[in-house]
Amino acid sequence: MKKILVTGGAGYIGTHTCVELLNRGYEIVVLDNFSNSKESALENVKKITGKDFKFYNVDMIDKKALDTIFDENDIEAVIDFAAYKAVGESVEKPVEYYTNNVSTVLNLLDRMKAHNVKKIVFSSSATVYGDPKVVPITEESPTGGTTNPYGTSKYMVEQILKDLYKSDNTWDIAILRYFNPIGAHESGLIGEAPNSIPANLMPYIVKVASGKLEKLSVFGNDYNTKDGTGVRDYIHVVDLAVGHIKAIEKLNKEGKGLFIYNLGTGKGYSVLDIVNTFEKVNNIKVNYTIAPRRKGDIATCFADPEKARKEIGFEAKKTLEDMCRDSWNFEKNIN
Ligand code: UFG
Repeated sequence: MKKILVTGGAGYIGTHTCVELLNRGYEIVVLDNFSNSKESALENVKKITGKDFKFYNVDMIDKKALDTIFDENDIEAVIDFAAYKAVGESVEKPVEYYTNNVSTVLNLLDRMKAHNVKKIVFSSSATVYGDPKVVPITEESPTGGTTNPYGTSKYMVEQILKDLYKSDNTWDIAILRYFNPIGAHESGLIGEAPNSIPANLMPYIVKVASGKLEKLSVFGNDYNTKDGTGVRDYIHVVDLAVGHIKAIEKLNKEGKGLFIYNLGTGKGYSVLDIVNTFEKVNNIKVNYTIAPRRKGDIATCFADPEKARKEIGFEAKKTLEDMCRDSWNFEKNIN
């Protein structure tokens, strides 16, 4: 049976997608270099699914290692998650970010081409929309105007994929623009486990709730939103993972094309909505203080998920309560 290569498969979204693929009978090969993940996450994917898969500890900068994977396995498609993703860090380390997020994709595409594998699902981000003039954001909303190397790296790869498709329309390409994934698998075995102090909201909240961090800084309460705090489109990571299955199904069934989809819920929640819901659902206090705005943040960002619903039947099913409960369940389980 032909296999799907999942790069960055040990990471947060990667592990959840591996679970959904394995549960649906897909065979997978996983690549990761554990730059921001742990081997135990893959063991837990096996525990959840009761299925095994081949794993390569490889950095995608290594073209020869990529060749070996394509030589040794009958790969029909790639889902590419392998990337750095911390906005703040990317400003400090642009060379590392462009190398790891752009050069490695060029290597991957080059080796895919050489092995005649022309189906790819790429992890992009709502960050490519910059500071949106209008919400909800549709796929036709302007892109670019990114404010940090992380965002620019995603924007660059999207452009590379579009140029690639223009040059050879036998490629099947799905670009998925994620909004704000939170939550964890209901088993509590996999979830977001950053190797350092969390930069994102939910991983920070769980550390405050568990007493590992003192209090959350809410970055600004003077935005033009219902309670003054930033509004985002939070999507449960399992829903997001299912979005990749829908994208693969689309490429397998209909093929031949380059497709771009927003993966979000279409609902915007403020930082205080998240804190309040987390406290209520989990019956636990989250200490917070109002702090100045974080540089580079925008007031409001949420998706118009209609295109993904119509074209690939993607619909986020889980509620904010599910997201808050599952994030906390994972945190309790790993400690
Ligand atoms: N926030 C806080 N305190 C924190 C962390 C976050 O108040 O300690 C607030 C932010 O100001 C923002 C909201 O919580 O209003 C969400 O922040 P996150 O850092 O969790 O997520 P972002 O929306 O900033 O980042 C997301 C993705 C990135 C992507 C970016 C583009 O995580 O990958 O959107 O805007 F680049």
